[in-house]
Amino acid sequence: MAEFTELSEKIAKIKNEVQDELSKLESSKSVYEYKKNILDGKTGLIGSLMKQMGKVPNEQKAEYGKKVNELKAWAQNHFEELDAKLKAEEMRLRYESEKIDVTMPAVKNEKGNLHPVTQVRNQLTDIFASMGFDIYEGTEIETDYYNFTALNTPQDHPARDMQDTFYLSPDFLLRTQTSAGQIHVMEAKKPPIKVVSPGKVFRSDDDATHSPMFTQMEGLVVDKGITLCDLKGMLDEFVQKIFGKGTTTRLRPSYFPFTEPSVEVDVSCFQCHGKGCKLCKGTGWIEVLGAGVVNNKVLEGCGIDTKEYSGFAFGIGIERVAMLKYGINNIKQLFESDLRVLKQIDD
Ligand code: PHE
Repeated sequence: MAEFTELSEKIAKIKNEVQDELSKLESSKSVYEYKKNILDGKTGLIGSLMKQMGKVPNEQKAEYGKKVNELKAWAQNHFEELDAKLKAEEMRLRYESEKIDVTMPAVKNEKGNLHPVTQVRNQLTDIFASMGFDIYEGTEIETDYYNFTALNTPQDHPARDMQDTFYLSPDFLLRTQTSAGQIHVMEAKKPPIKVVSPGKVFRSDDDATHSPMFTQMEGLVVDKGITLCDLKGMLDEFVQKIFGKGTTTRLRPSYFPFTEPSVEVDVSCFQCHGKGCKLCKGTGWIEVLGAGVVNNKVLEGCGIDTKEYSGFAFGIGIERVAMLKYGINNIKQLFESDLRVLKQIDD
């Protein structure tokens, strides 16, 4: 009898204890843990109560069992109730933190674009490739021979003064012109030759339209019966592709040691179409490149029979084309990487 009373009191105590403990639980996870412990058949406060049955006198066993089961059911209910309440609150907080405001302005996804010089270089390469030219990329360090001597510009030739050269040693220099590539190409390949060669060149020169490093694209065609007319025809086609339909060219006599005759090539102003504007300084024409018929001395130096073959060559300044096309008046703007300038140029 004494055991039964004791056990009944224990049950009441456990109920209070559990109620107390439940009011302290703050997460569904802690409810789950607590519930597991309390109802554990071996060690749990409630779960182990049935094991006490042996101590209960027979006539009270039924009542004891009922009380334990009631307590169990009560606890189950309370666990479930609290679990549902906490889970609902947890869900609410989760929704709150993961809420997306679809009306918020999107984070701007900055898009990069190629540098204007790269854009023009790619455009030129594409145009010449479409006209059947191969691409040859030379090296930025050259020997004096390839940059000058083989281009009919021996030591002490006055034309060497046309380009202020960065010498690395008496024999090696930073190429001043992509024309050096002409010689490499003609040494490596027999005519017919039809090649363009883009790349960086270097001259000790620095003002609003000149930079110590700039980019050129060389062109060389060697075949049977090539004349200045072929050059002019090819250029007329080319300038329309780069500057727009209707653009024409004009050749003016010039001098380069490696071409004979040599010409300076102007294009009709693609802004005012010849009427005269700021871009063409009122003349209707804009100077864009140097060119000419390859000097026989250069061909012969490369072992090409000048009785059979002739050629033309041209050299175009890529920064100059970029400046003209995009209205940039100081070459430095192409090297300062000012995003306000660069972002405006995306062809
Ligand atoms: N190499 C010359 C220069 O840099 C340009 C040129 C190339 C002229 C090919 C004629 C033929 O000024």
